[in-house]
Amino acid sequence: MNPLKHVAIIMDGNGRWGLKYKRSRNAGHKAGLNTVEKIIKETIKHKINFLTLFAFSTENWKRPKKEVNFLFNLLENFLINRIEDLHKQNIKLKIIGSKKFSTKLNKLLNKSEKKTSKNTNLQINLALNYGSKFELINAFKIMKKNKTYINEKNLSKNLQTKNIPDPDLLIRTGNTKRLSNFLLWQLAYSEIFFEKKLWPAFNEKDYNRIIKEYKNIKRNFGKI
Ligand code: IPE
Ligand code: IPE
Ligand code: MG
Repeated sequence: MNPLKHVAIIMDGNGRWGLKYKRSRNAGHKAGLNTVEKIIKETIKHKINFLTLFAFSTENWKRPKKEVNFLFNLLENFLINRIEDLHKQNIKLKIIGSKKFSTKLNKLLNKSEKKTSKNTNLQINLALNYGSKFELINAFKIMKKNKTYINEKNLSKNLQTKNIPDPDLLIRTGNTKRLSNFLLWQLAYSEIFFEKKLWPAFNEKDYNRIIKEYKNIKRNFGKI
């Protein structure tokens, strides 16, 4: 049975779900938050140490302003209402991506990270304004500036995911088979599951089915 330390998820399909069932993309984003809560609970049950959630990409700024604003309001309210409970559950929150948001949201994110920084039960990495190509370029720039020798270990150390083991498992919901600029370096040897269901429809049962299948895969890492 494969150990499972780190699950990464591309939570895709909110907009389509919202349009289909509530005639609004934003209603889909709101519903997607319920799935986030369910999956966090289930991740704890499985004693998985790291959960990385792709919430907003560097390319998502190209969406209509109304949708972008709705998403960040949703996040703000989530943090305001739920951080205390996450803290009580001994969950550590870490943001990956560039914190180029409103002063209010930046403060809230920093406060939430600081508050939960010593927690040890589960680390949630929230990918916000995250783009893997930007992250890689940035790492090379830092290494060049510091005259750091370029090798795999040093590159990993200069990514925002430093100190986080690479994902064992990547799940993308929403019925498309692509990475959309997510963790390109870190996913080199991850097991990848593309799930047809849209994120708001994804549930514990689907998650458990994938985890069960993952555990029985023969992972080779180049060996036989
Ligand atoms: C994923 O759902 C959430 C974000 C990118 C913020 P989408 O909003 O991409 O939903 P679809 O893919 O348009 O259905
Ligand atoms: C990926 O979904 C980003 C997130 C889930 C946050 P997108 O919906 O932005 O991806 P593309 O544009 O369809 O590739
Ligand atoms: Mg999408």
